[in-house]
Amino acid sequence: MTQAAVADKSLTKLHARSLSWADQYKLLGGLVYPRPIGLVSTIGPDGPNAAPFSFFNAIAVDPPMLMFSIGPKAGTIKDTLTNIRECPEFVIHLVSDEIKDGMNICAVEHPAHVNEMDLAGFTTVPSDLVKPPRIVDAPVQFECKLERIIELGKTPYYLVIGEVLLIHAHEGIISERHHVNADKLDLIGRIAGAGVYVKTNNTFVMPLPAAE
Ligand SMILES: Cc1cc2nc3c(=O)[nH]c(=O)nc-3n(C[C@H](O)[C@H](O)[C@H](O)COP(=O)(O)O)c2cc1C
Repeated sequence: MTQAAVADKSLTKLHARSLSWADQYKLLGGLVYPRPIGLVSTIGPDGPNAAPFSFFNAIAVDPPMLMFSIGPKAGTIKDTLTNIRECPEFVIHLVSDEIKDGMNICAVEHPAHVNEMDLAGFTTVPSDLVKPPRIVDAPVQFECKLERIIELGKTPYYLVIGEVLLIHAHEGIISERHHVNADKLDLIGRIAGAGVYVKTNNTFVMPLPAAE
């Protein structure tokens, strides 16, 4: 930051603990972007379920691990969490431009017995290694087993960490040398505001400078 910026009294400074839940949510969602979206299929007492999560990312390798974070639902908990507690396996699907409308349908808080994947018109097949079905329309599908759930904060949020067991990808996305064709993948990302997204086809290359 420049000296001028530091001296500028108009800088906004917010003490996070004094902010309401809604404002904290608005700020994190508004400032930390673009966020990838994981569309998570699970299976539970009321059948298969799918819901998107943008508090989602890759967090480790050896073994590869992904995480997503499940927030509160008025007076109850989200079906995804109920199901993972019951059957600690799930499939995380990456969301491309092509499947964005189906993803959006899966985000609606339907009753637990509703299979959002059917509602969305997705084609599902049995997974190879885990019980929840996988959505073949999604360009990449990660079959995962639960590594652990970490409860965070007062509300609380549930950080779900999964170990990736098997990766399915549409043809042309992963090369024989395991390079990824991002154009073919054509993912969308989440930005702040109701229903605002970004496309990822505006990339640029910036090589790392040499070390001193
Ligand atoms: C793009 C997008 C991203 C979302 N990200 C999250 C998230 O990170 N955490 C969360 O709890 N809910 C998130 N939601 C809301 C859930 O998808 C929604 O509450 C869903 O109905 C939960 O379904 P379930 O009860 O079947 O688990 C998101 C919704 C959309 C459309």
